[in-house]
Amino acid sequence: MSNKMWGGRFSSGPDAIMEDINASIDFDRHLYRQDIAASKAHADMLAKQGIIGADDARKIAHGLDTILSEIDGGSFSFKRALEDIHMNVESRLAELIGAPAGRLHTARSRNDQVATDFKLWTRDQIDALDAALKDYQRALAEKALAHAATIMPGFTHLQTAQPVTFGHHLLAYVEMAARDRGRFADARKRLNESPLGSGALAGTSFGLDRAMTAKALGFDRPTANSLDAVSDRDFAMETLAAASIAAVHLSRFAEEIVIWSSPLSGLIRLSDKFTTGSSMMPQKRNPDAAELVRAKTGRIIGALNGLMIVMKGLPLAYAKDMQEDKEGVMDALEALTLSIAAMTGMVRDMEPDSARMKKMAGEGYTTATDLADWLVQTLKMPFRDAHHVAGRIVARAAEQNVPLHRLPLADLQAIEPKITDDVFSVLSVVNSVKSRTSYGGTAPKNVRMQAKRWLRLLDKAAK
Ligand code: ARG
Repeated sequence: MSNKMWGGRFSSGPDAIMEDINASIDFDRHLYRQDIAASKAHADMLAKQGIIGADDARKIAHGLDTILSEIDGGSFSFKRALEDIHMNVESRLAELIGAPAGRLHTARSRNDQVATDFKLWTRDQIDALDAALKDYQRALAEKALAHAATIMPGFTHLQTAQPVTFGHHLLAYVEMAARDRGRFADARKRLNESPLGSGALAGTSFGLDRAMTAKALGFDRPTANSLDAVSDRDFAMETLAAASIAAVHLSRFAEEIVIWSSPLSGLIRLSDKFTTGSSMMPQKRNPDAAELVRAKTGRIIGALNGLMIVMKGLPLAYAKDMQEDKEGVMDALEALTLSIAAMTGMVRDMEPDSARMKKMAGEGYTTATDLADWLVQTLKMPFRDAHHVAGRIVARAAEQNVPLHRLPLADLQAIEPKITDDVFSVLSVVNSVKSRTSYGGTAPKNVRMQAKRWLRLLDKAAK
């Protein structure tokens, strides 16, 4: 039998393989809320414009509400023969209300319908991601405030470089998450134009009120070009780009958590809630959640890559290729949502080993820069000369196998006679971090101020 919705010119139904490759209901069923909301807005508008009768519009709205509760309640039966969510809903509407159902698709195509539904769905996801990222920021800022003065080794090239504070390190990720939220907010702003009423590609001859449906669905305005409206997916690509960057940030942090919790460094302890055991080695506590966050970044970036490749060769306007837009986006945003939640949980529960952090912060002559800075500030040496002198002092300390602050004054003076014992005041890790008071620096008082600033901001936005 040919398709009820579009089969007028067909004498036979599709091959089973055709049905398999064509059906999108297995994934676009997730758009049911948005599909029903857009249909209700469309029917309302058609009635207001006198394109369909008020009575039919009422029946349509009522039928759509019934379908919504059927799907919500799990009693709706999705049919692959009906291809997608749009035709599944419309076909059920015909079963429920009969002839008036056939008027719903007036002045509408699945092309403007799917673009509308998918934008609405993506917008909802962006809002949920924003809330999740905010929670993550709060967890980081709270932990940062508690550890504003906890000293840890700061790294470049994963070699200990200079002492920093744990709070400062955590706040770095708060800043990244803030920019991630900004990117999602930008994507949302550009996404928020309604394609509904663009028809298949050319617009329609009916006297629609597109501003009315746009407003009813929370869009800022209707799209201004029907060809563009039905055939671009830049909103999905942009959202995936924002998601990919956010995922990269989470992944870098996840990698640090793996390193920090390894016995090789032993800087933090993760809670039992976010680690797993080994089936063979009874002693193991593995940071699986962090590893999976790191790994999920792959599929998120893959989804962006995949969609860009789907789109890059498509002439205007709609082509069925675009049906391949949804699975990647759905999978990627689900992975990102889960990753943010896992990172938030790990941050809340992680406990630094403060003693070990402090000890490691001092290993490897990490206050050599403080020594050079002292030579510049106290002896008025040019920085390049000071760097050289400090380097020679490090070499002497290494020869004697002692940290800088244990090197006798006589040894320091053998290299630079003008050095006095005042220099020892800058060689400890505590004084080193305390001195980093430049704006954005790691000094505990800066970190306390920044953590409080973030907590205030996050609270304010919650009200
Ligand atoms: N399921 C389709 C999609 O996701 C809906 C649009 C179908 N349009 C068409 N002309 N066949 O893209």
